[in-house]
Amino acid sequence: MRNVAVIGVGQSKFARRPDASIREIAFEAFKEAVEDAQITREEIQASLVCSATHYDKQRTPAGIIAEYLGLNPQPTFNVEAVCASSGVGVRIGWSFINSGLHDIVAVVGFQKMTELSSAEVQEVMGRSGDVMWESPFGTTMPAYFALYAQSHMQKHGTTQEQMAKVAVKNHFYATKNPKAMFQEEITIEDVLKSRIIASPLKRYDCCANSDGAACLILASEDVAAKIADKPVWVAGLGLASSPMTLTGRDTSYDSFDCTVEAAKQAYRMAGVGPDDVDLAEVHDCFTITEILNYEDLGFCERGQGGKLVEEEQTYLGGKIPVNIDGGLLAKGHPVGATGASQIRTLVKQLRGEAGATQVEEAKVGLAHNLGGIGMYCAVTILKT
Ligand SMILES: CC(C)(COP(=O)(O)OP(=O)(O)OC[C@H]1O[C@@H](n2cnc3c(N)ncnc32)[C@H](O)[C@@H]1OP(=O)(O)O)[C@@H](O)C(=O)NCCC(=O)NCCS
Repeated sequence: MRNVAVIGVGQSKFARRPDASIREIAFEAFKEAVEDAQITREEIQASLVCSATHYDKQRTPAGIIAEYLGLNPQPTFNVEAVCASSGVGVRIGWSFINSGLHDIVAVVGFQKMTELSSAEVQEVMGRSGDVMWESPFGTTMPAYFALYAQSHMQKHGTTQEQMAKVAVKNHFYATKNPKAMFQEEITIEDVLKSRIIASPLKRYDCCANSDGAACLILASEDVAAKIADKPVWVAGLGLASSPMTLTGRDTSYDSFDCTVEAAKQAYRMAGVGPDDVDLAEVHDCFTITEILNYEDLGFCERGQGGKLVEEEQTYLGGKIPVNIDGGLLAKGHPVGATGASQIRTLVKQLRGEAGATQVEEAKVGLAHNLGGIGMYCAVTILKT
């Protein structure tokens, strides 16, 4: 087994970006990552270009992005696992290096969603549910996650105020992250009064559609030892799937089985448990999702997720700081970029470079990247 390190990270601003094409957004993140790693693009032996399909016109985007980034003639691959695309890309990049095939690999996650209207985006996203039995009946993403919210509220007494607190926390931390889409604090009242999207989810319970890219440079132990001042190690990887159709799931809809399974694999491989994690970046596509994730990742008992955030235990200084870069809710969720952006945040934290949101003595970070309505899940554990 060859150890694999993250030696460079980069991210574009997440926002509506009518000013930039997918190649230009990818370049912004790539340039930052290559400079951070202090390598040249010629040293990169393969690239993994991670995105979800159908948001922009370009098919097989690895072609155009590898060309624009100057990564020909090295091999390049499209990786697609909807919102978990770049979380999956990290696992593939790790395998390339761990197997000895390559020494330096770039994982580039990107998405440009705002060329479509919100309604068109939801139609495309709905098609990442079963197009025969579900999406024709209106199961957009907010509708799917609203079902989980209803179930969690009924079963565990989770309240709309507790869900709102997740949005308040993540918008608060986004104001400290210049790359985040939203830069204004909101209150619980703002969330509760915002427009109903799919009951009980209101606008501020939802992430917004966004454009952006994030890039990670992965390297073998030998390379990292030579060139990286502060390598951050990929210590644990977990990847799991669940049935795509909700009716195919053996669940009471208050948990994502694929998260539980992916977390188990990652904890085992890293030799740590939930109590050892110093901070986490989790997939808060909706406020309820962050609450489910706390429970599925073992940060609290089943049913206690609402209370965990209500008591501010997931704030900086709490038991386990979560999404203190703004999360998907306020940093933005350009879907293919999200998994790589989560890892960028953790790498900055583990190197002690997180500024105002630095977790003291952070040594173990966990990234949780969910795809679709919980049908893919990638969990990555990083260590100093
Ligand atoms: C919630 C949602 C339906 C709102 O759509 P909408 O009402 O059509 O909003 P628009 O896209 O027209 O944006 C209108 C304004 O509201 C803001 N806005 C939109 N959604 C927002 C959100 N979720 N949070 C905060 N602000 C939001 C936009 O930035 C925009 O602001 P601006 O006028 O200053 O540019 C849309 O954001 C959505 O579909 N979100 C979920 C995305 C999703 O499912 N992602 C995948 C998860 S698995």
